[in-house]
Amino acid sequence: MAGTTFVTTMKPFEKILQDNKEWAAEMIAIDPGYFKRLIEIQTPEILWIGCSDSRVPADKITGTYPGEIFVHRNVANLVVHTDLNLLSVLQYAVEVLKVKHVIVCGHHNCGGIRAALTNHSLGLIDKWLWNIKNVYSQYKDEINALDNEDARVDLLTEVNVKEQILNLAKTSIIQKAWKNRQAPDLHGWVYDLRDGIINSVFDMPAGSKIDDIFEYDNL
Ligand code: CO
Repeated sequence: MAGTTFVTTMKPFEKILQDNKEWAAEMIAIDPGYFKRLIEIQTPEILWIGCSDSRVPADKITGTYPGEIFVHRNVANLVVHTDLNLLSVLQYAVEVLKVKHVIVCGHHNCGGIRAALTNHSLGLIDKWLWNIKNVYSQYKDEINALDNEDARVDLLTEVNVKEQILNLAKTSIIQKAWKNRQAPDLHGWVYDLRDGIINSVFDMPAGSKIDDIFEYDNL
């Protein structure tokens, strides 16, 4: 079994290059026109904002195919108003691709959430986790009332998703789109690593009322 021996001695990055070639060949075998068609279309209806965690691949867990979802991922699926990367993805998805739905998907047992609940410094990433600590601070009475760490992680994961949805609604990008085309709807979800199921935790349909302080009156 020379082939098997070769595979086991491959380095991880070599293996994914090999797997890529096999995948591309499989796709062409199933549908010879697949790549040719895909080149010509980029019309996803969904923007996915998820965690960078390797266990939460947006397309795999949703059963979607290339071309169906526009994806942004960062540690703990945050919507930070000074994050030029996130804001650029959001603006392009909302104003150019005209997505109909934006999903923020957190997940069970998120390392970023778990770290934000501790008092340990992890280096530069402290600055990013600071955003989660702010959410923790807002909900600390409910979170600290829970008697085990896993339950506290789960609750902070849920309220974090809710706050990121509210952060989206506070952007001029979303407010302008709601005014001009009554879309996109915002959906806050949590993926459960234990059973692979996504649960809905907080929704904001287009046009929902937002906090007056953050509402722009000249868009
Ligand atoms: Co995570």
